[in-house]
Formats: sequence, structure tokens, C-alpha cells
Amino acid sequence: MSSLMVMVLVIISLVIPAVRPSEDSWTLKCLSTVGIVDQKTVIKCNFINIQDIKIETVSLKRTTHKEPIFKYFKTYSGDPRFSLENSTSGPSLQISKTKFADEGEYQYRVVTNRGEKKVQLGITITANYKNLTSSTWPKDVTDGGPADLYCNATDGYPAGFIHWFDRSGTNWTMNSELTNVYKDTNGLKSVALSSKLTFRSINLELGPFRCIVLNSKYVQEEEMTLHLPSAYTESSVTSNTTHIVAGVMVIGSLIVGLLCALLIFRKKNVQHGRRPSGQPFLSYDDSGNNAEDDLESGYKLPLSADEIETKP
Ligand SMILES: *[C@@H]1O[C@H](CO)[C@@H](O)[C@H](O)[C@H]1NC(C)=O
Ligand SMILES: *[C@@H]1O[C@H](CO)[C@@H](O)[C@H](O)[C@H]1NC(C)=O
Repeated sequence: MSSLMVMVLVIISLVIPAVRPSEDSWTLKCLSTVGIVDQKTVIKCNFINIQDIKIETVSLKRTTHKEPIFKYFKTYSGDPRFSLENSTSGPSLQISKTKFADEGEYQYRVVTNRGEKKVQLGITITANYKNLTSSTWPKDVTDGGPADLYCNATDGYPAGFIHWFDRSGTNWTMNSELTNVYKDTNGLKSVALSSKLTFRSINLELGPFRCIVLNSKYVQEEEMTLHLPSAYTESSVTSNTTHIVAGVMVIGSLIVGLLCALLIFRKKNVQHGRRPSGQPFLSYDDSGNNAEDDLESGYKLPLSADEIETKP
């Protein structure tokens, strides 16, 4: 342990240049940060214009407060959710489980072997939208009827957006109306979003619809597909049935026509084949297809003597 310390000290003394640059020639820079509630937030900070710098102490305090909320001096103290992201690589900070209460302006003080710096940093907190639900009014939407499509999401922050697309990807957002309901329960800020897409007369073939929840920075967070009754059920059944009936009738009459033609053709053949045998024509008349026989009569001539006898 002690030998390691000695080694570290030797290395440090070797890398530290004999002539130190003045403290003002380097800076500490931190980026403004957007944290997400319940997630880890990293506040990126960098030393600019300097190498071979070693962090000795850091402390973070709200600009409005005197006492730091977090300190590092060999060990951490203060809010246990705060720490240096990686103390050997730089002064970046992290918050392990971000809270809304972490939002605000801070002063960050870093003491190094090359002097000390203070920097202002801002943290804003957002919360992702959850509980995406959809519904329709009326519950059973009918083709050509009025319809309101709803998409709701809760617990997000700040206020976001809901966009609508139909099956073909057409953007229907312009026809929708977004409602935001703000809530603040003991510093836990949230917004409930509800979007209503209204149709005076809906075409069910446009479905299914997709609603997309975007955060305040227009980044997509959630997506949901809202299925409508199929355009081939419900009210459209009747029009489809007529189509089917018409089709069946056309095909049916074609088949009947074909059968008639076949029958006539066969009868003609039978006549030719049977005329000498003297089979009575009556048997055909008994089949009940008189119309066909009338049609056929033109082709019957000449009749043999036998046939004339058997005809009533
Ligand atoms: C969405 O919100 C609207 C308005 O608050 C409400 O009428 C509708 O029933 C909600 N739908 C769902 C699925 O929560
Ligand atoms: C859809 O329309 C909305 C409102 O007009 C617009 O803000 C959004 O950018 C559009 N989205 C796409 C993907 O075109």
C-alpha cells in the first residue's frame, strides 16, 4: 500500500512540469444537463487547456444555498446519489437516481493539484411519458359514422406532444386536439397528455391508426397502434353481400347456360344415336325440361316412323 503511494507520488512529481502555468490559463467547463427522473444523469465536465491535472476535492452546492449538497474529499459525503463519474478521467458528475428536486442552478467547485475553479451549471429534469392508452368514441366505430380517437399518456414532464398517422403513414395530427393537464404533488411535476382525433365520417380503411408520444424536445418516447373494426365487417357487410350475390348470380347464370348448352348438345347426340333403336321421346319430356325440348324441336326433324308412333 505504502509502496504504491510512493510510486504514485513519484509519477506525479515526474509528470508535473517544473514551471506551472498560471491558474487562469485553464478552465473548467460543464454542460447544461437534462436528466430523466428515476434514471442516471451524467453532468459532463472537462478541464480545458490543461493536462496532468489531478482532482483533490470537489463540492457541489445550489447557487441559492450555502451548504454543499455533495462533497468529495478522499471520500464522498452529502447526498449519496451524487458522485464523480470517474474521478481519474475528469470532474464529470453523476446522479444515480435522478429526482425532480434535482432541477436547478448549481455552483460546482473543483480543487486540483493545479489550482481551483468554480463553475455554474444548470440541471433540468424531464420525465418520460408512461401508461399510453387509447380508446374510441363511440366504442364500436362504424364505417362512415362519426368517431373520436383518443390517445392518452401520463407522468411525463415537461409537456410533450402526440402525433397521429394512419395505415398509409399519412399525418393526421393537424386534425387532432391536444390537452395537457399539469400536476405538482410535493415537487413531483407531471403532465397528462390527451389527444383527440375527430372524424365526422370515418373511413375504416384508414385504420389502424398509430399515435406517437413525443417529449418536449420532439423526441419519440412511446407509440401505440389503435385498431379499428375491420372495414369488411360491421356496416360494410351489406354492400359486400350484394357484391357477392351479384357475382354468384353472374357465375350461376353462366353455369346454367353452359349446362343447357351441354344438355341440348347431348340430346342431339342421343337422338342421332337412338333414332334407329326407336327409344321413346317421352322419357325426355318426363324430365320436366319442356323449355329445352321446345328449343330443341327445331332440330328434331325428320322423325322416324317409330318415334311418331310413340309420341302421344
Ligand atoms: C383519454 O382522455 C380523454 C379526456 O380526458 C377521455 O375522455 C378518454 O376516455 C381517455 N381515454 C383513455 C383510454 O384513457
Ligand atoms: C405531422 O404533423 C404535425 C403537425 O402538423 C407536425 O408537427 C409533424 O412534424 C408531422 N410529422 C411528420 C412525421 O411529418
